[in-house]
Amino acid sequence: MTILEQLSLAGIIPVVKIEKVEQALPLAEALLQADLNAIEITFRTTAAADVIRTISQHHPEMLIGAGTVLTRQQVDLAIEAGAQFIVTPGFNPDTVAYCIEKKIPIIPGCSSPTDIEAALSFDLTTVKFFPAEQLGGIATIKALSGPYSQVRFIATGGINVSNFKDYLSVSKVAAIAGSWMVAPELLNNGQYDLISDLSKQAVQAMLDFKIESISLNTQDPSEHNVIKEWTTCLNNQITHQESKKSRGIITISTPDIKRALHFLQRHQLKAKPDSLQPTSHSTGVDFNAIAGYEIKLTQR
Ligand code: 3PG
Repeated sequence: MTILEQLSLAGIIPVVKIEKVEQALPLAEALLQADLNAIEITFRTTAAADVIRTISQHHPEMLIGAGTVLTRQQVDLAIEAGAQFIVTPGFNPDTVAYCIEKKIPIIPGCSSPTDIEAALSFDLTTVKFFPAEQLGGIATIKALSGPYSQVRFIATGGINVSNFKDYLSVSKVAAIAGSWMVAPELLNNGQYDLISDLSKQAVQAMLDFKIESISLNTQDPSEHNVIKEWTTCLNNQITHQESKKSRGIITISTPDIKRALHFLQRHQLKAKPDSLQPTSHSTGVDFNAIAGYEIKLTQR
């Protein structure tokens, strides 16, 4: 899987301005504990390269990128420290060409059709849309997606807990990046628990698992009527289904099934391999039964 595909599955990229290398590991641990496994360390402080080095050495499971990269020298520093991708705030053809030469994935900042065409001239189809909110947000991304349908955007700038899900619901948005869960004051006050809580909240909001329906299997005719009443009262969220193979089916929905599967897999909850093969009549992905109940994951 490419780095860009991994970033897209991660969905949320914390953008960090970090002053001290001692903050690196507690920060990485707070994020990993919350299932955020991608991070962009910005070259806005002198500690950036050492922070990248420390995190990449201790947590190889973290997808770590260097942000606010403005020069070739910073590209070299980032690569040497262990960065796996480079993010630039604007479109600098010299930095882009250098990253391509060095074979490190580059996500250039693009804020206009002109920037996007410059990116396309380097065969780059995933760009950072920055500063997203100030440039018109989702409406601008949708307008840009008209002529540039092959482009995917990592929306950054002004993204927060109350708007990030709207961005992620746009198919052309590969991921979002933001600093709200790793704000400099949280880091400087050592509030790693809060960083972890805000990150968990973001991950849960992104996956937004909902129990859609529970289908109960019973052979007892007297229970059929009771289930029928529940079906009516709960608007089909509880239904009756006779099946020889299980006690029932629990159907769970999520806005993005690929991200959800990636997350569940990290928790050792793996879908049945044959249900991952899409067929014309497949309605979701099946997991091994728990307590006799089949589990089905669907996208809403
Ligand atoms: C960046 O450089 O990507 C931004 O500073 C992040 O934007 P935010 O602080 O508004 O989230």
